[in-house]
Amino acid sequence: MFKNRNRKLSRMGKTVMTTGGRDWTQIYTIYGMDQWQTLLFLLFHAILFAVLSILFLVYFDLVCAFFESFFLFTTDGAARFAAGFTGCVTALSAVCLFFAAGNFFYSALPLHHDMAQRIVNSVGDWSTVKLALDIGCGRGILLNTVATQLKKTGSSGRVVGLDRSKGTTLSTLRTANMEGVGEYVTCREGDVRSLPFGDNYFDVVVSAVFVHTVGKEYGHRTVEAAAERMRVLGEMVRVLKPGGVGVVWDLLHVPEYVRRLEELKMEDIRVSERVTAFMVSSHIVSFRKPSQHIVGPCEVRLDWIF
Ligand SMILES: C[S@@+](CC[C@H](N)C(=O)[O-])C[C@H]1O[C@@H](n2cnc3c(N)ncnc32)[C@H](O)[C@@H]1O
Repeated sequence: MFKNRNRKLSRMGKTVMTTGGRDWTQIYTIYGMDQWQTLLFLLFHAILFAVLSILFLVYFDLVCAFFESFFLFTTDGAARFAAGFTGCVTALSAVCLFFAAGNFFYSALPLHHDMAQRIVNSVGDWSTVKLALDIGCGRGILLNTVATQLKKTGSSGRVVGLDRSKGTTLSTLRTANMEGVGEYVTCREGDVRSLPFGDNYFDVVVSAVFVHTVGKEYGHRTVEAAAERMRVLGEMVRVLKPGGVGVVWDLLHVPEYVRRLEELKMEDIRVSERVTAFMVSSHIVSFRKPSQHIVGPCEVRLDWIF
C-alpha cells in the first residue's frame, strides 16, 4: 500500500537483537513488563499444548483406541489418522504459542528499547530541542531514551511524559531517576485526546506503541475508535511548534495515520520498513510541521470524522 504512494520509505536503521549495548535483564530490572499476564497466558498454554503433544506421542496406541471407541471409527486406520492429525495440530499449536510468547517478550523489552532509540535517531538535531513530549509515556522506555539523548547532547532541553494514570507517572519518575536522567524529565497526568498544553508548544512530540490503544473501548476496528486515534494525531500536531518533528511508532493503523497527517498538511512524512512487534506489523512514522503552518480551529481541532 505504501509502495504505491509517492512518499519516502526511510530505513531508520535495522532492528537487531542487541539493545543499544544493554542487556535485556537491565531493561527488565528498571521497567518491568507491561501486560506480563499476556506473557504468562501464552507460556501456560504453550507448555500445556507441548505436554499434550508429548502424551499423544508416548501413548499413541491408547489414544487411537480411545478415538476408535469414542468417535465410533469403523477402521483402525481412520482412528490412527484422526489421532495423528490431532497430535500434529496440538504440537503445531505448542510451537506457535512458544513463538508468540517469545515475540511478545522480545517486543516488550529488547525491541521496545531498540525502537525507542530509532525514534530518537529519526529526529535530526537534538541540540536545538528545548521541549519534547512523549504521549502515553507508560513506564518511560521512550521517555528516558529521549532524556538520555538530551543529556548526551548537553542540551538544556527537557522532556515531558504524559500519561492518564497517576500511578504510572510516579513510577515513570522513578525509572527516570534510575536511568540517571531525572533532571531532564517531568511527568504530567492527562488525557491525550485533549492535551493540557497550548498550541505550538513542543519542538518534538513522540509516541511508542500507544496511539492504537486510544478508543479501544469502542473496539479496534470501529469508526469511533478510528476517530479517537485521529483526534490524538490532531492534538500532536496542535502542540507541535511550526518546524517541529513528530515521531510515532505504532502497530496496525499506520496507513490511517499517514492519511491523517497528509490531511493535516504535514511535511516530510516518512514511514519505516515493517517491523514485527507483538506478532503484528508495526512502523515508525515521522513528520514535520510546516514552518508556515497555521493551526486553525477547522484544521486541527475539529474531531476527525470518516
Ligand atoms: C503501552 S503503554 C505505552 C508505553 C510507552 N509509550 C513506552 O514507550 O514505554 C500505554 C500507556 O498509555 C497510557 N494511556 C492510555 N490511554 C491514555 C490516554 N487517553 N491519555 C493518556 N495516556 C493514556 C496508559 O496509562 C499506559 O501507561
